[in-house]
Amino acid sequence: MSKRSVAAADVSGKRVFLRVDFNVPLKDGRIVDDTRIRAALPTIRDLVDRGARVIVASHLGRPKGKPSPEASLAPAAARLSELLGQPVVLAADTAGPSARHLIDGMAPGQAVMIENLRFDPGEEANDDAFADRLAALADLYVDDAFGAAHRAHASVSGIAERLPAYAGYLLQREADILQRLLDNPAHPFVAVVGGAKVSDKLAVLEHLLDRVDALLIGGGMANTFLLAQGREVGNSLAERDLIGSAAAFIDRARAIGVDLRVPQDVVIAAAIDAPSGDVVAADAVPAGMAIFDIGPATVASFAEVISSAGTVFWNGPMGVFERPPFAAGTRGVALAVAACPGFTVVGGGESVAAVEQAGLAGKIDHISTGGGASLELLEGRILPGLAAIPDA
Ligand code: 3PG
Repeated sequence: MSKRSVAAADVSGKRVFLRVDFNVPLKDGRIVDDTRIRAALPTIRDLVDRGARVIVASHLGRPKGKPSPEASLAPAAARLSELLGQPVVLAADTAGPSARHLIDGMAPGQAVMIENLRFDPGEEANDDAFADRLAALADLYVDDAFGAAHRAHASVSGIAERLPAYAGYLLQREADILQRLLDNPAHPFVAVVGGAKVSDKLAVLEHLLDRVDALLIGGGMANTFLLAQGREVGNSLAERDLIGSAAAFIDRARAIGVDLRVPQDVVIAAAIDAPSGDVVAADAVPAGMAIFDIGPATVASFAEVISSAGTVFWNGPMGVFERPPFAAGTRGVALAVAACPGFTVVGGGESVAAVEQAGLAGKIDHISTGGGASLELLEGRILPGLAAIPDA
């Protein structure tokens, strides 16, 4: 899936609309994790170095089509200025007079940022008039927003129909690596999938099942699989309407010889805010208690499979890892993935956060900047952000 690359574009002196995903986590107006900004730097630096006039554009949060000060890109513009080592001025609007004035005054090699694309209702609606206004700001379009590639929004889809469109380096790298997991993974290929709801992950499980050698399931979604095996899960989160789908999935995995593992032991407590949890076998969860993490025997079993993997893809935490009594399962998987000599890929906001918190990010081969986007690609779906860019 080689896309027409920004490397092939003549950008010198041109106004380049660069769509990035700077939807970064903020706390009290400060950026908690700037990974997505750093990940887009190679494309931004290349454009600046080649004398483009760079218009950096992103969404942040879900402000629902209205300006809101908490969703301003000001912290992202400040961080980008620091990382780039040159000022990146933020326009007061998205495609209005302030943005146009700033862009008109730009010299080659300068970068400016326009305000949050989602301050305009036309962005998420992929509205023609808004796409026209965005396109009128620039001569060329470069998409480096892999994290937003699953959104058919005006700055992803509409604008690419109006300007010569190119892929940035991050977009191409993410697409290449994730597509390789589907087309040509080194075996054994092990997928570790967690998170709260099986309904969010069923499509990706289905698409991966024929491709993986082992599938390790943890997190709240594992409870539905335990129910499908006839076990009781007490008050645990579960999607009882999907027990049949989980049972059919278990049967299919067995029929095609995939090593499907669900928790054999779990950490339980009466409530999520309990000061500690107890480890019990997965078939011994008492009524009134709930599962909040995988247990140590499960961690050991998952780690054993991961240790001999040629490829690992991990998405979704194994438990409520933000609470210390329920963090060991996710941390144990993070350690196992980091120690795996095979090719390792982690995607999804929470599993990435767990890897970062454990200080293990440097030991993972690829940390995807796309949560929803990486899952949709692995579900085999066409991402609008990739479809919009012509092939190389
Ligand atoms: C993300 O954080 O996954 C992307 O930036 C997309 O954000 P969205 O889910 O609000 O569209």
